[in-house]
Amino acid sequence: MTNVKLSRPILLLVAGLLVLQIAVAQKSTPARAQAGRGVEHAIDSIIAGLTLQEKIGQLVQYTGGWSTGPTGEQTINQEQRAIIRAGGAGSLLNVTGAAETRALQRIAVEESRSRIPLIFGLDVIHGFKTTFPIPLAEAASWDPAAVELSARIGATEAASAGVHWTFAPMVDIARDPRWGRIAEGSGEDTYLGSVMGAARVRGFQGTRLDDPTSLVACVKHYAAYGAAEGGRDYNTVDMSEQTLRDVYLPPFKAALDAGAGTFMASFNEINGVASSGSRFLMTTVLRDEWKFDGFVVSDWGSIGELIPHGFAADPGQAAERAINAGLDMDMEARAFRDSLASLVKQKRVTVATIDEAVRRILRIKFRIGLFADPYRGTSVEREKNTLRHPSHIAAARNVARRSIVLLKNEHNLLPLTPGTGAIAVIGPLAQNKRDPVGTWAGPTDTNHVVTALEGIQEAAAGAMIMYTRGCGIDGNDTTGFAAAVNVARKADVVVMVMGESNDMSGEACCRSFIGLPGNQLDLIKAVQAVGKPIVLVLMNGRSLAISWEAANLPAIVESWHLGHETGHAIADVLFGAYAPTGRLPVTFPRVTGQVPLYYNHKNTGRPFNDTVHYTTRYLDVPSTPLYPFGFGLTYTTFAYSGLTIENAKLRTTDSLRVRVMVKNTGSRAGDEVVQMYVRDDVGTLTRPVRELKAFQRVHLAPGASANVTLAIPVSDLAYTGLDMKRTVEPGSFTVFVGANAAADLAAHCEVVAR
Ligand code: BGC
Repeated sequence: MTNVKLSRPILLLVAGLLVLQIAVAQKSTPARAQAGRGVEHAIDSIIAGLTLQEKIGQLVQYTGGWSTGPTGEQTINQEQRAIIRAGGAGSLLNVTGAAETRALQRIAVEESRSRIPLIFGLDVIHGFKTTFPIPLAEAASWDPAAVELSARIGATEAASAGVHWTFAPMVDIARDPRWGRIAEGSGEDTYLGSVMGAARVRGFQGTRLDDPTSLVACVKHYAAYGAAEGGRDYNTVDMSEQTLRDVYLPPFKAALDAGAGTFMASFNEINGVASSGSRFLMTTVLRDEWKFDGFVVSDWGSIGELIPHGFAADPGQAAERAINAGLDMDMEARAFRDSLASLVKQKRVTVATIDEAVRRILRIKFRIGLFADPYRGTSVEREKNTLRHPSHIAAARNVARRSIVLLKNEHNLLPLTPGTGAIAVIGPLAQNKRDPVGTWAGPTDTNHVVTALEGIQEAAAGAMIMYTRGCGIDGNDTTGFAAAVNVARKADVVVMVMGESNDMSGEACCRSFIGLPGNQLDLIKAVQAVGKPIVLVLMNGRSLAISWEAANLPAIVESWHLGHETGHAIADVLFGAYAPTGRLPVTFPRVTGQVPLYYNHKNTGRPFNDTVHYTTRYLDVPSTPLYPFGFGLTYTTFAYSGLTIENAKLRTTDSLRVRVMVKNTGSRAGDEVVQMYVRDDVGTLTRPVRELKAFQRVHLAPGASANVTLAIPVSDLAYTGLDMKRTVEPGSFTVFVGANAAADLAAHCEVVAR
């Protein structure tokens, strides 16, 4: 390696000019193109000055926490500092804190020969120091603005701590709730998942990527990771290219259209090709079809996992397959670090391929402003003033209550009257600060969790509140049952807070049975026998099979894992300060054996018919779900009428415009989420029974009505044909509008050839 440093004044001058150009470019497209060319020229000159080892270094990402420092903090040890100094790392993950990131960045930009800044990555999934609801819960808000706000706050906080890059959003469609990572995404639906994925990208990336409060997003896990066979994490995926393109890929495309700068390759294989070595995914689709010009990072060690997949014989072949397929950065497999130089010597990988990967990484480093200010304005003081800012906590409460779904409310048991009576609060999640933060809560401090009990005590200060745990989340211990029965006897109403721990969903946390774990249902039955009205508050990271509970308890509130403001949000809903507005982003099955059970399935040649035996069904359980996708109640009711399609004959270039009258038929104001589903009645290939295509929220005073119009371009009715092209086939379509995926108000239209 030569000992010549790239001239710092020249690098800074190039960067300074670029910042100017980019500022001008906010306004005009030609100026933007020029700024883009300026960046490309700057990248050319940087690459021209790098040794092969330095180029490879840019493609390598190391994790923090390799060693524990003298004061117990997670840090980067001396050996790894030497690697940074030698230009052997392009990125670090899991290192946070303004002081630590600045110190490491200083080594990269002042002590390394190439002076290229590091990009710091972290899983900022649902908040940073202010913990928001898990993504599945946020998707239940059906409120992209709330989801965007949550991502924006997570970005602002993490960026103040020196993070540049979040490994989010996760946009994996998940039709099988046994899969633990369903908690990290937006559920089962392609359209809802696309809307939410795009909202998260907008939130993380803000209006400008080089703004010091923005993070660059990493859309993951590319692709079809959520389709793991049997809902078992990391498992095999085998699916048609049509299903891949129509169901699993659109949320990735939507995130890209929203500006996402990076992608993460998934752990799984698809049809025999491991994603981290899939040229089809990373080059054909992502770069050639979608024109993505950012970079792709592997998942943790996933290049090395090409070996157990049986897709590579050794780390060298794994690195060769990955980089030649289009994967740019190696997270923690060390395969690029250890093999690329010799692969170049053996002519199995070209320098041009490596240059291209370096170029993509530098492009993102430029876009996020690292060449203008490698520290992105971080300081310990800014960090302190940003983290857990009161406005962030207020937003977390608001997003949390918007994420709650009311599943049952017999005889209007809810809302409860706050000031009076005796309330028994029972359950292993009622006074629990650990689990409500949910999976992937990163550097959260669980002491900040407001528990359900604390929220109830605060909201119902005038009531007598008795708490007992009753049972554990898991296990068979019944010693707390008697105390639970006892407090229930003394109460006017019982609130039972039950569900899953935070580590029962998330990575490698799959369940073969998705009812309430342990003996929680036994406790519910024991308390129910007392005869007092019970409100079941659920906390969980997936859909649950809760048939007995739904049949026997008067009120059920789905609260998922809501983050720090859990107790406030739950109490807001229980006592009516907030009327629930959430809707299910996943189907709730009756029993685990029904899964995968999702609303947009195909019809089959023998669709289920109650009166005909030889139709698709199980003998021992009804064919319908317990709660359909899109379902959710509030403290009022709505009626739909007068569905009309404005133009029942449509060309492919038209818009489909649908009108419906929605009336608040109850005595409280409330929100309705009006949902539009479409069925392509006959296709060259069979089509799903219906697919969500649009939704709109309306707020109505008691007795008020609104005429709601939902409109989509007819091109949204396209699907992937045998030629792998998305087209709208002329023919008849059925439009369903209503409160959830079981809506039966229908109208017909026809798409005619132009
Ligand atoms: C997960 C990714 C995550 C990465 C880095 C992996 O185990 O699959 O989702 O971004 O770790 O933390």
